[in-house]
Amino acid sequence: MKKLEMLYKGKAKKMYATDEPDVLWVEYMNQATAFNGEKKEQIEGKGSLNNRITSVLFDLLRARGIESHFVRRISDTEQLVRKMDMFPLEIIMRNTAAGSFAKRYGVEEGTPLKKPILEFCVKSDDLGDPFINNDGLVALGIVTEDELAEISRIAYAVNDALTDIFSKIDVRLVDFKIEEGRTSDGAILLADEITPDTCRLWDLKDGNGGKDDDGAIEHLDKDLFRRGLGSIIPAYEEIYARLTALAEAEGVERAE
Ligand SMILES: Nc1ncnc2c1ncn2[C@@H]1O[C@H](COP(=O)(O)OP(=O)(O)O)[C@@H](O)[C@H]1O
Ligand SMILES: [Mg+2]
Repeated sequence: MKKLEMLYKGKAKKMYATDEPDVLWVEYMNQATAFNGEKKEQIEGKGSLNNRITSVLFDLLRARGIESHFVRRISDTEQLVRKMDMFPLEIIMRNTAAGSFAKRYGVEEGTPLKKPILEFCVKSDDLGDPFINNDGLVALGIVTEDELAEISRIAYAVNDALTDIFSKIDVRLVDFKIEEGRTSDGAILLADEITPDTCRLWDLKDGNGGKDDDGAIEHLDKDLFRRGLGSIIPAYEEIYARLTALAEAEGVERAE
């Protein structure tokens, strides 16, 4: 497989064309951003960790019957994926109140939700990724009713599978963001990345619901960076080590 011209440089990854029209070459960068790019830093080792974490997660999901754009990991910081026509959506799933949701409704971070909440935001840096409801998505022609139903079905299935995966490594899956797109043959698939940049992950190792004795959240995710609580690297390494051990224990086939 040959790496050709760069098609897009995002906040976390560079996407390159390949000599295979349906395959993209993804390079994970060390850049960390928060608050729509307002806070930005280079963090040595982040690209490699996110590339490896998202790869093992896509392998674990495939073993649970959830297909994605992931083809295989080709180096520490690079992977091949199926080229998709992306829906311009941030697809957010929440199992526990945290972040903007907790703030919006004035509930304490960590409050369990009686059912998972699926939320959509329009993916637009210029607009600051605004929230939109289901009617808005169809009314603006961003997706059709049928697409919305399939996108939602996949999001709930991903939530079930990820909740199972993270519970097995003593991590509370608080919420996460995914992206989906359409393959050239018309199927809607999970795409982009699933990393501690895009999930809220709280450490359950101490058996206390993800908070320490003083009630502070034990973050294993990008909130460490967003909130200036310390280095993300040991946390991301911990997530990667636990996921790798799980994949090994389950005998999951690895695409690398
Ligand atoms: N399989 C895919 N095919 C085409 N585009 C993709 C695929 N997976 C992810 N993308 C897109 O690649 C871009 C690069 O990722 P990223 O650096 O995270 O960008 P952003 O700053 O826009 O979030 C994103 O716009 C994402 O939607
Ligand atoms: Mg992104």
